[in-house]
Amino acid sequence: MRDLFKGWGRGQRASATTVEHPPLKIKPRHVGIIMDGNGRWARKRGLPRMAGHRAGMIAMREVIRACDDFGIECVTLYAFSTENWKRPMPEVEYLMHLPEQFFRSEIDELVSRGVRVRFMGDTSALPPYTQETVRNSLERTAENTGMTVNFALNYGGRAELMSAMSRFAQAVAKGDLGVEDLTEERFESYLDTAGLPPLDLVIRTSGEIRLSNFLIWQAAYAELWFTDVLWPDFRKDDLYQAILDFGGRKRRYGDVE
Ligand code: IPE
Ligand code: IPE
Ligand code: MG
Repeated sequence: MRDLFKGWGRGQRASATTVEHPPLKIKPRHVGIIMDGNGRWARKRGLPRMAGHRAGMIAMREVIRACDDFGIECVTLYAFSTENWKRPMPEVEYLMHLPEQFFRSEIDELVSRGVRVRFMGDTSALPPYTQETVRNSLERTAENTGMTVNFALNYGGRAELMSAMSRFAQAVAKGDLGVEDLTEERFESYLDTAGLPPLDLVIRTSGEIRLSNFLIWQAAYAELWFTDVLWPDFRKDDLYQAILDFGGRKRRYGDVE
């Protein structure tokens, strides 16, 4: 398994996109990405699934750079779901080491770009070495005021809603709040995305047309964009296409035009 981490880091830079992109007139403030298809990417090449996850990290780095270059305020990346614990133990273990690998090689660039790192999901249930990475990357980027990169790690939309409901109920039980205080706005303040811009666009790679428990409250009025491209192949050009498509959508929010 160690060998699969080899070569990741400074020396390994994916080739930069050569296409020049005309400036985007309409941009989503907050993009959520379901990074799917790593396993299938690896299988197509006769490689172990882990090789797909490793290649997926390169795509992730390129997409974070691209979001920053395009002037996106916030990108939420679905890295590990509450359901992904069902996977074989060696795969889960490999995935749990990825944040460490990723930040070791990328944190300096993120800091120099002024990126602020956030996490959502129950990070307290992660292995100690992953939690350490979470803490360090939060600390290193806490003062930054640029783009927010929000990693969903051990995140599930249902768990998020349950936790929000339970904390609101506790506030009511203690007498700090009344049932009538439950507005949509207050409820959102209990969600993991509190303080982030509203979710405008959800991208899912690999041809699956579902949310898989990703931002289920927040996606209520988000635009959805699906592509057959497998996550490790996803690059700046694909993101550009998604944003361009977003710019042409009519968002009615139930109203008439
Ligand atoms: C996405 O790729 C990565 C995670 C869910 C952690 P998959 O590992 O789900 O890849 P496929 O869907 O099996 O191809
Ligand atoms: C969603 O992908 C979770 C992440 C990308 C982290 P999955 O591969 O776990 O989703 P399903 O199982 O196909 O719904
Ligand atoms: Mg998958």
